[in-house]
Amino acid sequence: MIDCQRPNVQLPPDQHYLNLAYMAPLHSKVIAAGEMAFRRQATPWSLGVDAMFAEVDDLRTLFARLTGIRESSRVALMPSASYGLATAANNLVPRAGQNIIVVGDQFPSNYYAWSRSCRDASAELRIVSAVKAKSGIPSRSAEWNQRLLEAIDSQTRVVAIPNVHWSDGTLFDLKAVRTRTNEVGAALVIDGTQSVGAVPIDVGALKPDALICAGYKTLLCPYGTAFGYFGPRFDDGKPIEETWVGRDNSSDFANLVNYQETYQPHALRYEAGGRSNFITMPMVRAALELLLEWTPAAISDYCRELTKSLPERLRAQGFWIEDTCHRSPQLFGIRVPDSQDVTQLFQVLEERNIAVSLRGDALRVSPHLYNTAADIDALVEALAV
Ligand SMILES: Cc1ncc(COP(=O)(O)O)c(C=O)c1O
Repeated sequence: MIDCQRPNVQLPPDQHYLNLAYMAPLHSKVIAAGEMAFRRQATPWSLGVDAMFAEVDDLRTLFARLTGIRESSRVALMPSASYGLATAANNLVPRAGQNIIVVGDQFPSNYYAWSRSCRDASAELRIVSAVKAKSGIPSRSAEWNQRLLEAIDSQTRVVAIPNVHWSDGTLFDLKAVRTRTNEVGAALVIDGTQSVGAVPIDVGALKPDALICAGYKTLLCPYGTAFGYFGPRFDDGKPIEETWVGRDNSSDFANLVNYQETYQPHALRYEAGGRSNFITMPMVRAALELLLEWTPAAISDYCRELTKSLPERLRAQGFWIEDTCHRSPQLFGIRVPDSQDVTQLFQVLEERNIAVSLRGDALRVSPHLYNTAADIDALVEALAV
């Protein structure tokens, strides 16, 4: 079991931070890397070309190791999940009459890009929703996953889904979706923002067409960082920008105006200008090294063990939570009984320094390695009022 990391994050003693799904508190090693990075940016003569190229390549390699990506050149550094999802959407334009599939209430960055391209092309945006969560329905996941598979047909151009639903932690069966999308020739784009780093994923085995992850949650990186994996379907695609750094020979500064028609291999063409952010790169590196040392499997185990009594205790008080085996171990959506007001409960939690999020009709609770049994007890007690 990994040691509790509370001493390594700056949480005041009375703060119950159960809100990783909002933003990760920075680990002391990430902060130290950032302090070093500020100092070197202040003295640009100490910044060699290596920082601009080799450091980015190192981050690609670390992210690839974390996620089972076989070729690190398929990893692009990006400023946000929106940027990666827009890149995917721009290169997977549907024809009139085709459809693109998303799940109900998924995060807006993974909705707007597709709703726009469907509208522009007179294609259908097919939204697969779950049944309403209420007592008497212990789990909605099996039916939701079944509906998702049934929605995919020969006219499906893309299935663009999360692997873990951002508001309640429901898991989607990516393997089954990949099999079905392969049968009909549709692309699979995954938003891994709420899980990659905290639960294992093997991109090499799953072979999605794209995996996009914002950095500042389960990847423990600073804000303004994200990763995108782009598979062979994107090899000849069009980037959002035409940054100089994405072209061949861009490290040959003396010859930059010897303009190149060709791009750097695989995903590198999709990176944004300013991708070699000298402040955030060392911080991202420190965060990925920590995750590789701990491993996503062990982080999952920590969260699972920490919260194992939580569903039973809350269900006894009338709350609804998705079944443990159909939910990601680090993300719970707690739905309150009709007799209670979710906004009022949220305020009670705030007053007791218990940080969670209110997302739709769910109180979203997302623990990580800095949480202890005291945080879980505080939550259960506060919800009992
Ligand atoms: C599932 C999911 N995707 C993406 C994001 C962030 O997107 P962006 O990087 O575009 O701000 C969030 C933020 O809450 C999220 O929950």
